[in-house]
Amino acid sequence: MRKPIIAGNWKMNKTISEAVSLVNSLKGLVVNTTDVEIIVAPSYISLSAVADAIKGSNIKLSAQDMYWEKNGAFTGEISPLMLKDTGCQFVIIGHSERRLYFAETNETVNKKVKSAHEYSIRPIMCVGEKLEEREAGTTKDIIKDHVINGLSGLTEEQMLATVIAYEPVWAIGTGKTATPDQAQEVHGFIRELISGIYSPSIADSVIIQYGGSVKPDNIAELMAKPDIDGGLIGGASLDAESFAKIVNYKA
Ligand code: 13P
Repeated sequence: MRKPIIAGNWKMNKTISEAVSLVNSLKGLVVNTTDVEIIVAPSYISLSAVADAIKGSNIKLSAQDMYWEKNGAFTGEISPLMLKDTGCQFVIIGHSERRLYFAETNETVNKKVKSAHEYSIRPIMCVGEKLEEREAGTTKDIIKDHVINGLSGLTEEQMLATVIAYEPVWAIGTGKTATPDQAQEVHGFIRELISGIYSPSIADSVIIQYGGSVKPDNIAELMAKPDIDGGLIGGASLDAESFAKIVNYKA
């Protein structure tokens, strides 16, 4: 059985003190949650403070991106070594906002995914089609391109430790969630792709999250689908109560 992973991607929100206050409120609300892995992804600048705040709790830390080199002359970048040192167990890679605004490509995504594994940081690799691609009927082609090229060269062990987040770009921050059936169709397709590259048993163990306008009132119907193993939550993760309701969707 796959244990669901629900992650809050705070994007470029919250000062350090706001981030600490948010996670401190969250801690109390999820203290009894054992059946879901809970992750928060603050901005780089808040990682250390949030890492201190979650010590001894059931909340884990993720970064929102990283560079693939260990160190060197890469002004403005953050390395996997630095993330590891800060206490990150996860890193989001290839979010559509990075693909759209910061020239992230499948090639850079793949370099980052492989580099994260070298430091035993679990990548959460994001894939997803734009509205025009869905309307043109090319959703599966885009997903296949993101999945095959993003995962290229991973060992079986690295594949098992990789989380995939399906985030249809048209559903991010728009209030338009994919219907549970639309999401399930793509999740099932991603699992088939992994099965084809690796094996059915590996595909069966990989966590595939859904992201895009997930809210307390739609999480349960999404999680009821057989291939949806968690969520990557933007807006609704910026409020402790709404994120806790999402995490505690079974309660
Ligand atoms: P929203 O939940 O705000 O739609 O954002 C989803 C997302 O991009 C998470 O990474």
